[in-house]
Amino acid sequence: MSTGQKLKVAILISGGGSNMVTLLKSMGADHPAAPCMVMSNKADAGGLAKAQALGVPTAVVDHRPFGQDRAGFEDAMLAKLEAANADVVCLAGFMRVLTPHFIDRFEGRMLNVHPSLLPKYKGLNTHARAIEAGDAEAGCTVHVATAKLDDGPIIAQARVPILKDDTPETLAARVLVEEHRIYPEALQSFTQNL
Ligand code: GAR
Repeated sequence: MSTGQKLKVAILISGGGSNMVTLLKSMGADHPAAPCMVMSNKADAGGLAKAQALGVPTAVVDHRPFGQDRAGFEDAMLAKLEAANADVVCLAGFMRVLTPHFIDRFEGRMLNVHPSLLPKYKGLNTHARAIEAGDAEAGCTVHVATAKLDDGPIIAQARVPILKDDTPETLAARVLVEEHRIYPEALQSFTQNL
């Protein structure tokens, strides 16, 4: 299959982009999809240079000038996704809440990785909340992104133990290892079945 026939994947990030890098590296010759762009809402996101080093075009749409105009921010991102002919969007540490205005355009074609065992701990500070609750285990989830935050059909989950001396940081590091394992697997199976 030539790259031209593959599904084109855009990855949205806000930070270091370690999940983004594992996704990019997973899309080899036999993969049903190929990366078309990495986009960030932050110009200083560390992941942008990593994507460029891997030969993937990058784009930035800073959310701040748009203020409360979420539709305007989302339209600016949608224009860049359309210019890149993106078929599939992967959210990988993208820390802006997207509205149905954006999500409807990629309905059934957008994935998210979330650092908890959904439906537990939607939103932020997932690891601190799991430790605080005295949970025995934590984990991560890859799911189809829908209009409800951190909701939508679950594609993959992985569990890790919460250890006695865990801090949110040590737990996050243990969970991140599993994110790097399940997100590429989920993207492969998802794009195979599209
Ligand atoms: C990951 O742990 C991801 O699950 C989380 O941000 C981190 C990004 O790390 N996402 C969310 O919390 C989304 N609500 P990365 O930039 O190294 O991939």
